[in-house]
Amino acid sequence: MPDPVLDTAPACVALPVPEIPAVMLEHALKHRRSVRAFAAAPLSLDSLSALLWAAFGVNRRDSHGRTAPSAHNWQETDIVAVLPSGAYRYEAQSHRLHLMQAQDLRASTGLQDFVAAAPLNLVYIADFARMHEAKPEEREFLAGADAGFIAQNVYLFCAAAGLATVVRGLVDRRALAAALQLTPTQRITLTQSVGHPLSA
Ligand SMILES: Cc1cc2nc3c(=O)[nH]c(=O)nc-3n(C[C@H](O)[C@H](O)[C@H](O)COP(=O)(O)O)c2cc1C
Repeated sequence: MPDPVLDTAPACVALPVPEIPAVMLEHALKHRRSVRAFAAAPLSLDSLSALLWAAFGVNRRDSHGRTAPSAHNWQETDIVAVLPSGAYRYEAQSHRLHLMQAQDLRASTGLQDFVAAAPLNLVYIADFARMHEAKPEEREFLAGADAGFIAQNVYLFCAAAGLATVVRGLVDRRALAAALQLTPTQRITLTQSVGHPLSA
């Protein structure tokens, strides 16, 4: 069943207040794993909202602090949620999604077969222009490390929420950057598929 809100590819979506499952950290750590098969059911807007907040949302309003650390607090990573109806950039401060492309780009987010049908593919994009005073040889390493923290937040959220996920580096970055019409300073670090497990 298509999501009633996102199925229409709106230009901007105010996400619902994120509700994080009250699960022991021990449970989440014990259940964290990579899963590469997903049920066809879409994620609800509530799940998407909570997942994006857990991934890299604002957890300190006064300082604009985020749920994942970033080198120098550059906060250079943007998350793009690639859904059947389109690709949406997550704007953490307002907790909104902004439409980038109103077409199904899921197949472009990776080189493995399961990617095209995964209900949600996240794309982590570092904007090198935000990494002020970074040495050029450090940029990719630090951006990759920062994306790793976000990916682990998603893993732990999925373990707590009973969702399935796998982080992915196997992606044609040039082709995906072209499909998303990224600027020359934006670099795709990692991608991550999310869905309901087959057995649920
Ligand atoms: C940086 C990174 C890139 C990865 N890229 C892929 C990938 O492209 N495709 C894939 O299926 N799994 C990918 N994985 C998942 C690993 O294969 C997986 O974490 C590993 O096999 C251990 O399994 P586990 O996560 O269930 O403990 C990647 C993991 C990391 C950390």
